[in-house]
Amino acid sequence: MMQVAGKVVVVTGGARGIGRALCEAFHRADAAKVVVADIDEAGARAVAAAIDGAALQCDVGREQDIRHLIEETERQFGPIALFCSNAGIGGGFDPLSENAGGTSDEVWARSWAIHVMAHVYAARHLIPRMKVRGGGYFLNTISAAGLLSQMGSPAYSATKHGAVGFAENLAISHKADGIKVSILCPQGVDTDMLRSIPKGPQSGDGDLTPEQVARDALAGIEQETFVILPHPQVLGYMRRKTENYDRWISGMAKIQARMREAYGTQRKGGMD
Ligand SMILES: NC(=O)c1ccc[n+]([C@@H]2O[C@H](COP(=O)([O-])OP(=O)(O)OC[C@H]3O[C@@H](n4cnc5c(N)ncnc54)[C@H](O)[C@@H]3O)[C@@H](O)[C@H]2O)c1
Repeated sequence: MMQVAGKVVVVTGGARGIGRALCEAFHRADAAKVVVADIDEAGARAVAAAIDGAALQCDVGREQDIRHLIEETERQFGPIALFCSNAGIGGGFDPLSENAGGTSDEVWARSWAIHVMAHVYAARHLIPRMKVRGGGYFLNTISAAGLLSQMGSPAYSATKHGAVGFAENLAISHKADGIKVSILCPQGVDTDMLRSIPKGPQSGDGDLTPEQVARDALAGIEQETFVILPHPQVLGYMRRKTENYDRWISGMAKIQARMREAYGTQRKGGMD
């Protein structure tokens, strides 16, 4: 059983939303030090100040930034027991898009860097250290979109699927090294990211608070479960998807059509 008490923990995207709630939950669980890493330095400092943590500015899409984050944390505070790759962006949402392949390369590249390569860099620079120590833990915040799909967001959906694929491989490859992996896959969570897009199917089972999601994440880590589903309904959707993929695609297409209609009406209403 993984215990956070007395451990050094890093959380990326820790300045706001789910990341901030994770930092606060780890502090309450008596982590020895929580390192709040974010591209928003002032935000990271504010969160760190409230929890006796440390703040480090970092763009998780850049390998040298992740390397620096890991080296500095271990130099100042000791071995990282738990690394949470949580930073994410909601780029490219367009429910009225005429073409799922139409999203710009810039959005695709940024989503890939932040949602997938950031997790790869964390593993690249921590696995050798963790192997020497006989273990370690990665918690990657992904999304139910990585297991199902996020309508209107091809780049978000595909890169979150990529993140699930990498986490599976990471867990399989390093089980024998004592290295554990969990993926945190909620639907709607009441954060700035969710508020930046119109209400849609991701909120169909209700939006959770970041604090609720952080509590579930902590419980999932303690139990060392691979998939952490703060919305338990997601397990049923996964089952339906694998049971009959074609029926699932048809059902999702119907929901998307309704969403387009609702959003189109909203937008027209707004323009009148
Ligand atoms: N809010 C939701 O409904 C929801 C649902 C499922 C999954 N998620 C995922 O949860 C994670 C956290 O999202 P949130 O809702 O808390 O969003 P948020 O926008 O509230 O917070 C994201 C944080 O990440 C930081 N960040 C963004 N790009 C970064 C970068 N390149 N380097 C370092 N930090 C960066 C931001 O500055 C911000 O502090 C994301 O991976 C997101 O995809 C969110």
